[in-house]
Amino acid sequence: MEYIYFDYSHLDNVLEIEEESNPFPWTELNFRDCLEKGYYALVLQRDKTFIGFAIMAISSEESHLLNIGIKKEERGLGYGEKLLNKMIIAAEVMGSKKIILEVRISNKSAYKLYEKLGFEEIGMRKNYYRLPQGREDAFVMSKSLKKGIASKLFFNRN
Ligand SMILES: CC(C)(COP(=O)(O)OP(=O)(O)OC[C@H]1O[C@@H](n2cnc3c(N)ncnc32)[C@H](O)[C@@H]1OP(=O)(O)O)[C@@H](O)C(=O)NCCC(=O)NCCS
Repeated sequence: MEYIYFDYSHLDNVLEIEEESNPFPWTELNFRDCLEKGYYALVLQRDKTFIGFAIMAISSEESHLLNIGIKKEERGLGYGEKLLNKMIIAAEVMGSKKIILEVRISNKSAYKLYEKLGFEEIGMRKNYYRLPQGREDAFVMSKSLKKGIASKLFFNRN
């Protein structure tokens, strides 16, 4: 398995996953915007087969997991968990205090994955997600990260 920085050459594969995953998928422009903004974004491949992707806006106060997706036929094999763990480590290393995310209230598999990796439900955003018809509420989830990992790794050398 290989983790690679998400770049423009991965857009077709990522869009394919996004379109099979979401009732109102992100567009190519949404993904290009993330790349232009320099968000932390990885893709996961196995023997050149594209498996999935994840995107996170990292900041010292609070990182925000913006999207994660695994190809339909590769789900349930532990890849989502591996990719999300990479995101958590990256945020920790960069000194984030927590990660937050939103998840559609009907998205049980994603909710379970987040719960398994230590995210807790902290609220709800009404009508947050667009649907082909109408809108859907989102749970907001948060995970506190280990304090001081960045300072231990980079600054505290004595
Ligand atoms: C959510 C998603 C990323 C999970 O990826 P995955 O590779 O299938 O998940 P994993 O195999 O790593 O599973 C890890 C854990 O997630 C939970 N989980 C995953 N699929 C699940 C399912 N169908 N039902 C219940 N729990 C599930 C379980 O807790 C699982 O741990 P376990 O195997 O010990 O029970 C994947 O289903 C996906 O791409 N969905 C479409 C896109 C999406 O909804 N993204 C989230 C947007 S907020």
